[in-house]
Amino acid sequence: MLKQEVLQQLRSCGGFLSGQKISAQCGVSRAAVWKAVEALRADGYVIESVTNRGYRLVQATPRLCLTEILAALPADHPWCDRIKLFDAVDSTNTVAKKLAVQGAPEGTVVIAQSQTGGRGRLGRSFSSPEGVGTYLSVILRPQVKPDRILHLTAMVAEAICQAVEQACRIRPQIKWTNDLVLGGKKICGILTELSVEAESGIVQYVVPGIGLNCNQRAEDFPPELREIAASIAMQTRQPVDRNRLVAAQIQALWELSQQLLDNDGRWLCQYERDCLTLGQDVKIIRGDSVRLGHAERLTRDAALIVSYPDGSREEITCGEVSVRGMYGYV
Ligand code: BTN
Repeated sequence: MLKQEVLQQLRSCGGFLSGQKISAQCGVSRAAVWKAVEALRADGYVIESVTNRGYRLVQATPRLCLTEILAALPADHPWCDRIKLFDAVDSTNTVAKKLAVQGAPEGTVVIAQSQTGGRGRLGRSFSSPEGVGTYLSVILRPQVKPDRILHLTAMVAEAICQAVEQACRIRPQIKWTNDLVLGGKKICGILTELSVEAESGIVQYVVPGIGLNCNQRAEDFPPELREIAASIAMQTRQPVDRNRLVAAQIQALWELSQQLLDNDGRWLCQYERDCLTLGQDVKIIRGDSVRLGHAERLTRDAALIVSYPDGSREEITCGEVSVRGMYGYV
């Protein structure tokens, strides 16, 4: 993509670069270079142009931008040409599911600047304003029965932990099953939806959707969420480069897609280290009923084994319950 090449040239030069030089290096006309510069400006880049000196990159775009995301991924990344960036959508999961029904391949990634109807687990909504978070869904197509991928959501949480650490130099913890937590507050939610073919019982597609709070300040959250929600930047006190973070998520999800069906237990060891629920007393909430128990361990499928004061034990799978700490969200 010419835009990307021009950006690369301006970046590596650091100062002014003439239109003539860029056109020679990219093998295109000067008019094409000018067009690419205009397109970069439309994406939010600040590019200075001075007669007889050329162009200079003053500031990278603060917006999510395909050029930046691709620049942060290996050039030959297998999902490179399957990444779709939208302005506002109702929900990236809904868009990804529609694309999956139309036959979009595994690795199709749907990203949005904002969501008007972001969805969470258990019918909740997910606040998704523009400019501060990342909202991303990916189509996976494991050709197996759903019981072979019960661990998927936990595995996605682990992958996103890794992506946050890589892009932001801080490692979140995981509140079972798939909330990412920093400083005791939720920074990320994951909603996984899947479709199964009725006759064969085989998965047609599965769409994990990930919403990450990146650059919000405490006052950006509605008062009722301030006790439980936070952003990465509130913890690191550094602005998050959301394009880099999206690229890191895509890379981590691609790695996950390569290991999903092995479920060899390696990822689970790391998950257990990251999971702050294990070893804690917890409240198991099903609708109006609340039971107190102790989170003992995980099964291979990432179900939670909880023991109760009467000596009984229960295996809890995600989706059916909320698990809360004794005195608050974690
Ligand atoms: C939760 O915390 O309950 C899950 C929240 C999941 C939010 C993400 S944002 C991207 C994708 N699109 C949605 O509508 N939901 C998920």
